[in-house]
Amino acid sequence: MTKKHTVILQPSGRRGKVDEGTSIRVAARELGVEIESICAENATCGKCMVLIEEGRFEKYNVDSKREHLSPVGSDEQAYFARRPNLLKTKGWELGQVRLSCQCKVLGDVLINVPEESRGNKQIVRKSARERAIEIKPSVRKYYVSMTPPNLERPIADWERLAKGLEISMGLVRRGEENLPRWSDLSIDYACLRTLSSTLREAKWNVTVSVWQDKEVIAVQPGYVEESYGAAVDIGSTTVALYLCNLRTGEILAAESEMNPQIVYGEDVMSRIQYSIEHKDGLEKLHKAIISTLNKLLKQAIKSANLSLRAQVAKQSSDEEENPTDEVPLFSQGLLRREEHSPRNDMKTDEILEMVLVGNSTMHHLLLNLHPKDLGLAPFVPTIHKSVDVKARELGLQINSSGNIHVLPTIASFVGADTSAMILAEEPHKQDENWLLIDVGTNAELILGNRKRLVCTSTPTGPALEGAHVEYGMRAAPGAMERVHIDENTLEPKYKVIGVDGWNTDHAEFRGHVKGICGSAIIDSVAELFRAGIVDSRGKFKKGLGSTSSPKGDRIREGASGWEYVIAWAEETSIGRDIPITQQDVRQIQLAKAALFTAARTLLKRSNLESPDKIILAGGFGSYIDKEKAMLIGLIPDCALENVYAVGNAAGDGARIALLNVEKRKEIESVTRRVERFELPTDPEFQNQFMLATSFPHMSESFPHIAHLIPHRVPDPLAKNFMK
Ligand code: FES
Repeated sequence: MTKKHTVILQPSGRRGKVDEGTSIRVAARELGVEIESICAENATCGKCMVLIEEGRFEKYNVDSKREHLSPVGSDEQAYFARRPNLLKTKGWELGQVRLSCQCKVLGDVLINVPEESRGNKQIVRKSARERAIEIKPSVRKYYVSMTPPNLERPIADWERLAKGLEISMGLVRRGEENLPRWSDLSIDYACLRTLSSTLREAKWNVTVSVWQDKEVIAVQPGYVEESYGAAVDIGSTTVALYLCNLRTGEILAAESEMNPQIVYGEDVMSRIQYSIEHKDGLEKLHKAIISTLNKLLKQAIKSANLSLRAQVAKQSSDEEENPTDEVPLFSQGLLRREEHSPRNDMKTDEILEMVLVGNSTMHHLLLNLHPKDLGLAPFVPTIHKSVDVKARELGLQINSSGNIHVLPTIASFVGADTSAMILAEEPHKQDENWLLIDVGTNAELILGNRKRLVCTSTPTGPALEGAHVEYGMRAAPGAMERVHIDENTLEPKYKVIGVDGWNTDHAEFRGHVKGICGSAIIDSVAELFRAGIVDSRGKFKKGLGSTSSPKGDRIREGASGWEYVIAWAEETSIGRDIPITQQDVRQIQLAKAALFTAARTLLKRSNLESPDKIILAGGFGSYIDKEKAMLIGLIPDCALENVYAVGNAAGDGARIALLNVEKRKEIESVTRRVERFELPTDPEFQNQFMLATSFPHMSESFPHIAHLIPHRVPDPLAKNFMK
């Protein structure tokens, strides 16, 4: 039997027994304390640092010692070796401070989780947009009233129901060619197994749900008006689920969670790698996403039921005052009012269909298809076409006869989420050339119009989401989300998630800031460039002299090179200055060069100088300041009024496909004619990438933001890369 040890976490005071060998980070989660991580526990982010308190703690009856944790491993050593000043400034020593993702419990320990390591629930920026969607779901409901069998007409239950569907509801009309007849209908086996008992219990009056006018997937007693479905966008970082009413299109609940696969790899390549290197890798990754989807379904039903109950209560009181014949079967005499009562307790088996989208790796892991060939030349997925599969085959807890529809993929790294984005934004119906960009750890780009669409993808790395940036963090309370620098005084001001206004609007602004999230990282780098603190090649300019800050020079040489302090220690909740460092600027340069080069390649292949419109999709795209994004050359030059952020377009596309079955056919045909370009095989890629590392670019003029940087001078290095 595995030995157990006591772990006590301070300052929360949570404690409990955990198995020997459990990492402190996992133990903390088991005990209800979330510890930060943005490197998928790869010992590279340092966000999970904890301190071990040594000695005898009578109150808890434990002897806590560093030897009660596994020895400091090579990855952990390497992390601290790269930051020699980190321990010095805090007065800590290695062994006392540990990376909680790396150290394992070998005995009783009391652990102090410092403020900066405490996890906050990320603000998941994936809310759904109001959209006009024509409702034509793939699942339709039909009320069927049958005469019970007797000795003269002993027809079997299924045939009786199918004929009932044909005759009563005109699902299949006799005499019309090309329309299926009752004998063309089928019934899902799981539904067939309960058919006889349901028909008898319901006294032969049932509501039948038919999928794509060909398969019966649910038979419910009496008259049931509503059907439900779920649309899901599986991102590498976040999973968003929208529970919808299939009759009205209304979003009943929207829920999101972090993608649990992140512990196996922070980006798609590392997850593919994990599945290749571990025998049970695919199984673990697949199960992780399925269990999260089931959790989200449960949460969504809970929230939807709360609002349904409120609606029903209101409806009942309204009806008492003004009775109506809103249900058509009342007026036709087919249904008595007492046989129909409004529903207020939706259950998982009333969810009859799910539409899912995700990048190609998420798509394969969801469908339990091995993703190894996505990561190896010639980079081919198992399937491009859309997939319909029974929910029960994937272990998804909706109606077991319900179907899962997964949108088509376009290329190895341009997946079903991009198909959904196209469906939502419709570049294929435009005369102008639109550039759609979905920014994440991987960026997907689509360019074109009704005549031609081209696409590509590029890894942008996690820097844009706050990882690999010294004080980077996810968008959570305590994260800076906006930064502005005065070009005369070089003094900054900033906004923090969870606090209204700028820090300078408050007489006292202390103890709130913990780190910098993606949108503020873009702001900071753009502002450093605009204010002339860094040059167009991203280098800090030395000798700018003291600023007007009473605390001293914000531009200083720090532990890892030059840096600019945005928040002094006393303004933060971590007790340390929060700077943007030279290294951070470099990380952003690499990410933005990758994205810009991808866009430039597509423009060139389409013989265009610039797009007519830029659409930024994804949670990150919605929160970045478009002017700042253009100022650093993250996106190509374009009139700013033609740059739009559209939020979670992939989630919107999934919802459209859920609510309108014809849209599934439309996107199937559009995706087959999108031309794909692989960037690494482009002979100009390296030179273009080098040109794009400068702010905003080494050779391009960027007329729409030129007024913001009047000090800009041509870079003599440019000609070396312009061949
Ligand atoms: S270093 Fe432990 S989670 Fe990143």
